[in-house]
Amino acid sequence: MKIGNARTLVAGLALAALSATSALADGVVNIYTYRQPDLIKPVLDAFTAETGIKTEVLFLDKGLEERILAEGANSPADVIMTVDIARLTSAKDKGVTQALVDEELNKELPAEYRDPEGHWFGLTKRARVVYASKDRVKDTAITYADLADPKWKGKICMRSGQHDYNLALFSAALAHWGPEKTEAWMKGLKANLAKKPDGGDRPQAGAIAAGECDIAIGNTYYVGLMRNNEKDPKEKEWGNAINVLFPTFENGLTHVNISGAALAKNAPHRDDAVKLIRFLASHPAQQVYAEKNYEYPVEPGLAPSETVKSFGTLNADTLPLVDIAKGRKAASEMVDRVGLDDGPSS
Ligand SMILES: [Fe+2]
Repeated sequence: MKIGNARTLVAGLALAALSATSALADGVVNIYTYRQPDLIKPVLDAFTAETGIKTEVLFLDKGLEERILAEGANSPADVIMTVDIARLTSAKDKGVTQALVDEELNKELPAEYRDPEGHWFGLTKRARVVYASKDRVKDTAITYADLADPKWKGKICMRSGQHDYNLALFSAALAHWGPEKTEAWMKGLKANLAKKPDGGDRPQAGAIAAGECDIAIGNTYYVGLMRNNEKDPKEKEWGNAINVLFPTFENGLTHVNISGAALAKNAPHRDDAVKLIRFLASHPAQQVYAEKNYEYPVEPGLAPSETVKSFGTLNADTLPLVDIAKGRKAASEMVDRVGLDDGPSS
């Protein structure tokens, strides 16, 4: 059975197309993803070139797990690709993944960035760092603890404390510092805010460019995306208004999160799906995937893109992401208790 050439299917069309043909076809892997299709296309093309196995991508901006649950035993999903430990663990918790214990895979991927039971695998990593004004911040090193130092009063911008990226960071803080120290720190961070947390990571760089704050908390890849944005000069200006500083915990390491893949629960093309996950985990593929997204390969020692290299050296925390996932609820409750999202004044 033959499938159309379109690699990217949009929601409505996709269900019909996938269930009518792909579920029965050989030599194809169906990927359900929250990632923008153009971000994953280069690495999928490389997979097809090497193996002759085609891929079909269903991009969803929400409800991926619910979709697979609704499709039930007939789900055409073979592989799930997404970002953030919260989404990967949620896929496992909702029962839409299956365990894959594979020696080859486990050799390619550091243990701290994959599920101990094989339900998800980190392929690239991103660091949660400090964006610092090139004009106004002369510090060359800022620790996570420093973000609560009164010297930054009224100078910090950030997105909502309840966003997945910040919850993972706060959860890492909980693992390193324990609840009391983390809560005192979060109160200090709140007191240092320039304004109420709002928007995504990129607008925080924009707020620095506009002089509203001096430092912000953000993910590394957004800096790559902003600086190389040929379509939006405003974003380029934001990206160039900031330096990336790698904050650290007391172990000298920086908090990272992952993008990853999981084998879907039913996976009608299981063998080819496993081949795809093995391919994505291979060091050259990690590198291609990371380069396109301004992320880091999960394997330490593999080089990121030139733009990302220019940020300096990332020494990634080795705290297992599965432990970070466990602290999410406590972190979220702490954000509410402290009133972080109310901003500095209330
Ligand atoms: Fe993001």
